[in-house]
Amino acid sequence: MNLDKLKKKAAWAALDYILPGTIIGVGTGTTVSFFIEALSTIKKIIYGAVSSSNNSTLLLKKNGIQVFNLQNFSSLPIYIDSADEINHQMQMIKGGGAALTREKIIAAIAKKFICIVDESKIVDVFSNFPLPIEVIPKALSYISKEIIKIGGQPKYRKNIITDNGNIIIDVYNLHIKDPVFLEKKINSLPGVVTVGLFASRSADIVLIGTRKGVKVIKKNKF
Ligand code: 5RP
Repeated sequence: MNLDKLKKKAAWAALDYILPGTIIGVGTGTTVSFFIEALSTIKKIIYGAVSSSNNSTLLLKKNGIQVFNLQNFSSLPIYIDSADEINHQMQMIKGGGAALTREKIIAAIAKKFICIVDESKIVDVFSNFPLPIEVIPKALSYISKEIIKIGGQPKYRKNIITDNGNIIIDVYNLHIKDPVFLEKKINSLPGVVTVGLFASRSADIVLIGTRKGVKVIKKNKF
């Protein structure tokens, strides 16, 4: 079975968690595109969505789902998004689609963060997928130097300007043993908008598309 089929399984399973009359936080990427397709089938019962990227906003609107402006929200009942990698503590690397900053804001205000992934995204330790950092353009050289100091290999992501007008540095060769510590450390560097480590605010529920069906992992209180 190809990965798209597994992504689709996880995406459609997320519909079970959508309550009528609510506004849904919606992430970005190919898995989320499947979720938006699924969401459009129940669009009459939801109030609308808050989107993490211009791409998702377009797709939501194309599917007839009303999109509200994130800047007017300090709380949302639910956020559905995917990840580039997720570990057994439900911490994630995100930002492959360059939407990490708005994704982090939505994750921060969401009461329930549901991560939808195919089984290939599950890892023991973050060491494979390059860690994205959104940086203001003037900080490119400084942040690259600081990243080398902590053992990473920074690579400027060419031809990408984020929805916030910034650039992305992808960091290779990191073996991340303490994601919470690294998230805080990189976020504290001047010029960093945000790092794509979602460790302090991890997911609450993970829906994993596998060959045998959808596996559900939940934090205790969910
Ligand atoms: C976008 C993200 C995505 O969730 C992540 O890149 C996964 O994407 P896909 O569903 O296409 O595999 O963080 O910034």
